[in-house]
Amino acid sequence: MVIEERIFEPPTLKGLRIDFSRQVVSSDELSVQINRLKAAQLADRRDALFAGEKVNVTESRSAWHTVLRKPAELQPPNVAADMLKAKSLANEFRSKKRLLPGNKAVKDVVILGIGGSLLGPQLMISALEMTQTDTPLFRCHYIGNVDGHALDAVFAVCQPEHTLFVFVSKSFTTIETQMNANHCLAWLAKSAIAPASAKAQFIAITANRAAAVAWGAQTDLTLGFEDWVGGRYSVWSSVGFPVMLACGVDAFEAASYAAHMVDQHFAVEPLDRNLPVLMACYELAAMNRGENARCVATYDERLAKLPDYLQQLEMESLGKRVSLNGQPAHAAGPLVWGTVGTTGQHSVFQWLHQGLQKTPIDFFVCAKPDHAHSSLHRSMLANCLAQAQALFHGRGLNETIAVLKSQGLPDVEVERLAPHMTFAGGRSSTLFMLPRLNAFYLGAILALYEHKVFVLSVAFGSNAFDQYGVELGKIAAKLIDSAIENPNQTTGLDEHTAAQLAWLRRQ
Ligand code: F6P
Repeated sequence: MVIEERIFEPPTLKGLRIDFSRQVVSSDELSVQINRLKAAQLADRRDALFAGEKVNVTESRSAWHTVLRKPAELQPPNVAADMLKAKSLANEFRSKKRLLPGNKAVKDVVILGIGGSLLGPQLMISALEMTQTDTPLFRCHYIGNVDGHALDAVFAVCQPEHTLFVFVSKSFTTIETQMNANHCLAWLAKSAIAPASAKAQFIAITANRAAAVAWGAQTDLTLGFEDWVGGRYSVWSSVGFPVMLACGVDAFEAASYAAHMVDQHFAVEPLDRNLPVLMACYELAAMNRGENARCVATYDERLAKLPDYLQQLEMESLGKRVSLNGQPAHAAGPLVWGTVGTTGQHSVFQWLHQGLQKTPIDFFVCAKPDHAHSSLHRSMLANCLAQAQALFHGRGLNETIAVLKSQGLPDVEVERLAPHMTFAGGRSSTLFMLPRLNAFYLGAILALYEHKVFVLSVAFGSNAFDQYGVELGKIAAKLIDSAIENPNQTTGLDEHTAAQLAWLRRQ
């Protein structure tokens, strides 16, 4: 194999380089996977996705996130209007044309949401904030979990009258986000902010505008989007408002533009040069080898939230055992997990190098940092490249023996230690090389993964756009919540839960 044949730098992606050359897959195997996708009618399914057809068959709606990143003049008017309102509102806050009640300037922004309603904004803001040379206009805080510790930590550092809350929930019924928002209202009330003014400190972002109105969100502070925008694909909609607010509308637009470039690439590029298709093919080949997990290793602290983001995107989309027609699916997606750079090398990389289960790795690295500590960056680059190389080649027994001998160890020690110090190698990896981190490259990466997920769903025969798997636990949680409040209520509790509740009550 000629290495260059597996390295891609599409001109429209401005130097983003994707290096598949360490994928342990023969060209024949790659063709097998591509043919498998052709047989599954990938091209037709892809066209249906882009045309806004109802590809989400269980919920009977489209998954038309690609239209959100088209230029405004090519969007349906209602979509363009929603995006324009979000951008205008962000600009008003950024320019201080809009202030909080009592003419108070916004100092802190608390983003309330969970899953797709939080992870996208959190990833983008945390990544881009550290690339900006200017001091951020606002401090951003993220509340997803239903945990008072997290809320208290935020309340401890914010001033009520200077805090803007962004309440993001597609359904506007997600219990965690509702509860957190109501606790934030209570916190404002405690500081003597009148209820009417308190609601004026909330931006509501939802596809269920009626529910936002019923909750008391102000119309001018409510940003809508369409119900065909899936939660984990929603950062491109007005769910991206916190990104516009924190990083600027230009940054959001650069990310959207890059995602649109990826859409165009995915739509027209031949399958054997089509990046999302290739990403999917390498994953399918890994699964054929029994490698059912993938590690995301970001050699850049600013991308620390990328593994969490991809985990939801991939596992909520592909964790399905049933196909579109209700029959068993061909397969489900792998476990996705991750870590940041050299930190991970001192924890999980032992398992990656010498564990029994081989696991492919997606590495991310930026050629140029946005800091001035050049030796740190050199070390970051060296570590990333070294890990990819070492995982791929390993080190055989003979080589290990030679290394130990060269260190002057006695033969008996060499024999004792050599098996522990050999590495099987053969670990596949893809290296995503960014010229530097900015909104454009981040947007491109997210869209590449979105489409990879779609391609895998076509291969598996499953629906990437529903998430019924999260429902059963929610139903149980409701019943158990009311049983905690009312000990006579035992409906829905099995004997394990009953015993666990009894212990909790005794504490
Ligand atoms: O966990 C299920 C889920 O529906 C995700 O798909 C979604 O991103 C998240 O909950 C939040 O939902 P909502 O935006 O409706 O509050």
